[in-house]
Amino acid sequence: MHEDGSAAFEVPARTPVYFQAIDAKGHVVQTMRSWPTLQPGETFNCVGCHEDKNEAPPIGKMSMAMKAGIKKLEPFYDISGQRFGFPKIIQPIFNAKCVSCHKDANGIDLQATKVWSQKEKKNWNQAYLSLVLNHTKSKTANDINSKHINWLSSQSQPSVIPAYTAGSSKSGLLTMLEKGHRGVTMTREEMDKLAAWIDLVVNHRPDLLDIRLKLSFRNTGHLLANAAELLGLTTPGDTPA
Ligand code: HEC
Ligand code: HEC
Repeated sequence: MHEDGSAAFEVPARTPVYFQAIDAKGHVVQTMRSWPTLQPGETFNCVGCHEDKNEAPPIGKMSMAMKAGIKKLEPFYDISGQRFGFPKIIQPIFNAKCVSCHKDANGIDLQATKVWSQKEKKNWNQAYLSLVLNHTKSKTANDINSKHINWLSSQSQPSVIPAYTAGSSKSGLLTMLEKGHRGVTMTREEMDKLAAWIDLVVNHRPDLLDIRLKLSFRNTGHLLANAAELLGLTTPGDTPA
């Protein structure tokens, strides 16, 4: 984003795009909770929805983004184009930096141990449950708090909500790691990935299709299981016994 607040960039066609304003620390400021999906060649403007419908943008000075030209999206470390799931992207950070101390079931267990939920018919990583379980909605219902993490609620009010209402910047876990925790050194990449996970609203699976395929192949046998594997939709060792 340029100094005058403008931005112009190219996005992949026929792909839902999620807009999130991020600060210098990689923490979310605000999120657009609905998403556009553009067709090839289509252009799209923020002006028109984010102002009064009877107002036109001021004529005259060109924005810095228009002068600089349309940019390509920059890759996000080694995971651009991949589906963002907890077991593949977040768990390795905990394995490398946390489990040497956090493998005690009485404290905070951050291990990759699979925990099968009969109710949800899926496996969860123990580390995920340790951080996300036992959460409550805030008074405004815009954000959700567990003891260590805060994230945007899917039930948040539809009107615009103030900057820094929810997410990584309000998550005690990140503040604790930034300040320094038991001599652990975190890289910028690890911190950015943790923030991205929280700001994508603490997902476990990379996508819903994955869950649905899993559910159906529990009923219809190997055919769909093979299809899921061919499509790369399963994580090794992730399939319930
Ligand atoms: C050298 C050992 C050590 C390492 C490495 C370590 N921790 Fe801790 N951590 C502790 C101890 C000790 C406590 C306090 C006792 C407890 O709550 O388990 C603690 C507490 C915590 C708490 C609870 C804080 C609170 O106030 O309730 C969280 C969350 C946490 N650690 C997360 C992490 C994460 C995430 C990592 C890796 C990025 C990590 N820790 C790495 C030793 C460690
Ligand atoms: C089709 C209409 C439309 C367009 C075009 C649009 N937005 Fe939005 N935007 C909305 C609506 C409605 C909301 C409030 C509900 C929501 O979050 O989806 C919103 C919310 C947001 C928010 C979050 C504000 C909050 O609630 O905290 C941001 C940030 C945002 N938009 C950025 C953008 C950007 C950047 C663009 C252009 C690239 C854009 N929007 C284009 C309709 C639009």
